[in-house]
Amino acid sequence: MRKNIVAGNWKMNTTVPEGVALAKEVNEALKGADKKCDVVICVPFTHLVSVADVIDQNVLGLGAENCADHKSGAYTGEVSAPMVASTGAKYVILGHSERRQYYGETAETLREKVALALENGLTPIFCIGEVLEERENGTYNEVVKAQIVDALFNLSAEDFGKLVLAYEPVWAIGTGKTATAEQAEDMHAHIRAVIAEKYGKEVADNTSILYGGSCKPSNAAELFAKPNVDGGLIGGAALKCADFMGIVNAF
Ligand code: PGA
Repeated sequence: MRKNIVAGNWKMNTTVPEGVALAKEVNEALKGADKKCDVVICVPFTHLVSVADVIDQNVLGLGAENCADHKSGAYTGEVSAPMVASTGAKYVILGHSERRQYYGETAETLREKVALALENGLTPIFCIGEVLEERENGTYNEVVKAQIVDALFNLSAEDFGKLVLAYEPVWAIGTGKTATAEQAEDMHAHIRAVIAEKYGKEVADNTSILYGGSCKPSNAAELFAKPNVDGGLIGGAALKCADFMGIVNAF
């Protein structure tokens, strides 16, 4: 059965000492908690080794926010999937809308990244989601389907089964404007149907689909109560332990 997961996406926030302190605080808070979901933090590359040192990954999983589309070589400034895996991290966010929008990530580069992540034992948290114009002109279901088909449907059913998906409507990210629980549920059900069409019902039923976009303690419970919403990918609210724990405890 699919897992419930709450994953933090710290983005480009915190220095190493600040990040280590936040990770420790979250790890401590989780130790005593009766949590009903897996909890993960995805942190900047520079933080991975130090954070891995201070958390118990049986309690709090660790991930990166990206990885390169090549294994090694002359790619100045890039960080490869084997490098991420060597820090002890187990997850990697791929295809975040900020990477697609500001760094030109395409389905083609994402296929390479997903393959390298899986080869190195990392669980991709693969992001999909429409922009405001596509929400307003009613093409959002097709847009999200195309993102899945183009970047992921080259995978075998076995490999697809290793992914976590995150539906993040771009218009809801960092804007304070959350999708309604109904909008999220409709899209998550659509995504599950798209997966079922290609890989069958069992793979679809076993895929965790997280919601992301201005998720906070006050709206998490309503979102997570929907049958097809299996947790959240949390940006801003992951930067304060109390807010993040409020979301974790929404399950
Ligand atoms: P937000 O970001 O929670 O700050 O809207 C979510 C994300 O981009 O993953």
